[in-house]
Amino acid sequence: REQVMTYKTILVEKKDQITTITLNRPQSKNAMNPQMHFDMRDALTEVEQDRECRVVVLTGAGDAFCAGMDVKEYFLETETDPAGRAAARKAAFEWMFRKLRLLPKPTIAAVNGWCFGGAFAWLAVCDFAIASETATFGLSEVNWGIIPAGGVTKLVSSLLSPRDAAYLIMTGKPIDGKQAAVMRLVNSAVPREKLDQQVLELAEELKKKNPMVLACAKEVLRVDQNLSLDDALLWETAKWTELDASAKKTWHKGVKQFKEERTYRP
Ligand code: COA
Repeated sequence: REQVMTYKTILVEKKDQITTITLNRPQSKNAMNPQMHFDMRDALTEVEQDRECRVVVLTGAGDAFCAGMDVKEYFLETETDPAGRAAARKAAFEWMFRKLRLLPKPTIAAVNGWCFGGAFAWLAVCDFAIASETATFGLSEVNWGIIPAGGVTKLVSSLLSPRDAAYLIMTGKPIDGKQAAVMRLVNSAVPREKLDQQVLELAEELKKKNPMVLACAKEVLRVDQNLSLDDALLWETAKWTELDASAKKTWHKGVKQFKEERTYRP
């Protein structure tokens, strides 16, 4: 892999049109401090503009995926610095909920280990997630005497069943990768040594698609989540028409191959 950009708290590497972003504070279990939020915001801005990049993988260095917000540097040390806290929060919300959630490229979370608290917010807005069976997930906030905020409760409750969301949020008890797959918090769980291969296979599958079509499908999926059916029908029709115009009717070829030449099975 080629390392492309330099940041203090993350690694960004490119190989075969796949960009891997690795949270890189293993000594703190990749807990997110203010600097990490600034780095993620900048890295995702670059990734979005990188025309070579077709798929983005997010993971953590060492035995942790991400231990949530850095309770010392993000919460405690900003208590006496309201401007610093506001700047860190703004960057956090920006990279997670604007840049990552709406990135016009597919994103895969490779959950290699510990995954707690605030990590659920950006795990939830990745398009796909594959976990190690031995990864540990938990919403430990209630055990600290706080609540899962910063979008975590909202996203967990829209991703999971109400029973599973309440269990995680209100007991604070950890679950493993296998249980996370049963809950559909992740797409699948595999033995730790198979994680990279499994993520690569999904990335290669996504690379075969037309990137413009994929970006459009993702945008429609994201915006639809906030629309009524009537609004969604208008929005989907408008996006279909826009894509059809910009893709210059390439799908006509597919119909011909499917119906006449019988050379194509979608
Ligand atoms: N914020 C700040 N520091 C953190 C952290 C966090 N969220 N998570 C881990 N760290 C630090 C530890 O304090 C420790 O620092 P030290 O070396 O200065 O003592 C270092 O990372 C290693 O963690 P440690 O607890 O020694 O490792 P472990 O393997 O025994 O346990 C965890 C790993 C992830 C289970 C444990 O660190 C943990 O429970 N972290 C808190 C997770 C959490 O509740 N996050 C939600 C916050 S709202």
